[in-house]
Amino acid sequence: ALLLICVSLCTVSAARAEDGYRLWLRNAPVADAAQQRPGQVVLVGIESPTMILARDELSRGLAELFPGGATGRTTPILLRRVIGPQMREGAFTIASMDQGVAITANSDTGLLYGAFALLRELGQGKALASIRLDEAPAYDLRMLNHWDNPDGHVERGYAGRSIFDWWHLPGHVDARMTDYARANASIGINGVVINNVNARATMLEPRYIAKAKALADTFRPWGIRLYLSARFSAPRDIGGLKTADPLDPAVRAWWKAKADELYSAIPDFGGFLVKANSEGQPGPQDYGRSHANGANMLAEAIGNRGVVIWRAFVYAAENDEDRAKQAFTEFQPLDGKFASNVVVQVKNGPIDFQPREPFHPLFGAMPKTRLSLELQITKEYLGFASHLAFLAPLFEEVLDADTGRSGTVADTVSVIAGVANTGSDRNWTGSHFDQANWYAFGRLAWNPKLPSKQIASEWAAQTFSRDPAFLNAVVPMMLASRDAVVDYMTPLGLAHVMGTGHHYGPAPWVADLDRPEWNPVYYHRADRDGIGFDRTATGSDALAQYAPAVAKRLLADEALLLWFCHVPWDHRLTNGSTLWEELPRRYDRGVATVARMGTTWAGLAPYVDQQRHRAVADFLTIQADEARWWRDASLAYWSSVSGRALPAGHEAPA
Ligand code: GCU
Repeated sequence: ALLLICVSLCTVSAARAEDGYRLWLRNAPVADAAQQRPGQVVLVGIESPTMILARDELSRGLAELFPGGATGRTTPILLRRVIGPQMREGAFTIASMDQGVAITANSDTGLLYGAFALLRELGQGKALASIRLDEAPAYDLRMLNHWDNPDGHVERGYAGRSIFDWWHLPGHVDARMTDYARANASIGINGVVINNVNARATMLEPRYIAKAKALADTFRPWGIRLYLSARFSAPRDIGGLKTADPLDPAVRAWWKAKADELYSAIPDFGGFLVKANSEGQPGPQDYGRSHANGANMLAEAIGNRGVVIWRAFVYAAENDEDRAKQAFTEFQPLDGKFASNVVVQVKNGPIDFQPREPFHPLFGAMPKTRLSLELQITKEYLGFASHLAFLAPLFEEVLDADTGRSGTVADTVSVIAGVANTGSDRNWTGSHFDQANWYAFGRLAWNPKLPSKQIASEWAAQTFSRDPAFLNAVVPMMLASRDAVVDYMTPLGLAHVMGTGHHYGPAPWVADLDRPEWNPVYYHRADRDGIGFDRTATGSDALAQYAPAVAKRLLADEALLLWFCHVPWDHRLTNGSTLWEELPRRYDRGVATVARMGTTWAGLAPYVDQQRHRAVADFLTIQADEARWWRDASLAYWSSVSGRALPAGHEAPA
């Protein structure tokens, strides 16, 4: 009986160990015994909470990677905090020296990032002596935006309820908050907005400020500053004022007092994120004022203590201008009018986090304004957590896009923000492979030039297995996954054809919603003669918002054909096929890629623990079914509007 109890306990604990909770921080033992072993970790410099974390993190990670202990040839690891030279906050170097391997930085966070970087390299199986790094983050601010509500619901969250335990805060800070901060620090994330952009004013009440303070205190040693989404009408909602007009002295005084209250609770409070006059949210335009009036009023309240991040995601029901144009129309003329501590946050594309969009034309077009690039890590339009889509290629595509004005999108921004995909799920992100998107976001916010392939390989090696046979199969599978989604959901530049409201599954036929721009038919404009949204000079001319050379390039890009053009079904593509011939091929290609992903993954069972292998396999089966659903429903609909017979091989079952 004893033996039986032990067996069942052991099984349970083995299963627990591989439920995905440890993310990419598993530090699986390095097999190669001949490897030079790291020895003791030595701190050089005045100890601070962050430096102690760096040391402890490294000691613990090394003990996990080299469970045999420091026997044989060992090398001490020095964590050296030095004064100067001038490096960006968070920068570090790693190099072998006579005394051992030294991680050197002139900031505490630099040492912490260096510690994680060393573990990352070792975790991929690299030899200690060969590790040399000289790194500095490309941006000062690398932040997650949580869309979490105070009632625990997460807008567009597919990983359970809010990761923040609002109910028990501030009395109890769950240990998970430390794990969360640690995961973020390991990839260089240094700011988090803890609540939804569709903000409740509740978050600014003293009882919620106390909760925020408890979180901020937990995050601080990990180099993470806390920010809040602020509801613009808060002075009215909770302040007892009759107005929230940004030019009203009482309103200005209210925000100043609120900012002071926040800073006395959280001395390093990062600032406010604001969604104003968009999708029904209150804002300065309610009082005839501009976005700049609103942002600058809050910026004055914050002063030099932090920033105001003002979102450019605006479009209005009463405006019949092409939705893709509205943000540019409203914001571009305000260039130069924002205070120096205002950052304007722009989504990667002009509509809304579609599987593929051209980059947003505001990038490069507001040279006198600090811009933030907003990416969406949670996959609102890419199959939620059920579909496997590795987003690094999508992020890379936008970062690398040449604006034709002042370099690439990456060159034109000073902040990177990602809408978080974390929740209370045991595996954090709702699926194992969605952890890779959190990881990829952090890595690219640190270094926008990192290739997707390297990110995929780093992540998979640390998360599952560093065996080259595994990596050679899983990395290409990840890299192909986003294009597969584009193929089976929105090929050739289609967009926003998802089910209304929830955005899951195909619904290109929906045409009866009150707000025209929420109807899929608004975006595809398919009829008997053709399909696509004419955004050239004969249509909405959204194309003219881009630099002329870029507009030309975008127009020639067949991947965006139906985004910019309305074309006849018999339009000839560069490969000689007509659009009507090509569409089914694209859908089929997406379906086939997903099927192949399933086969690839099935073959990888020897490298992955059973629990996680099974979970991924199940999700890939769901995805395979739903890719076919997308294809079949879309083709049936296009066939019905065009009056053309379904392509051969796609006929409806008798
Ligand atoms: C999308 C999303 C909303 C969100 C909005 C935003 O429209 O569906 O849930 O509030 O983006 O980014 O503000």
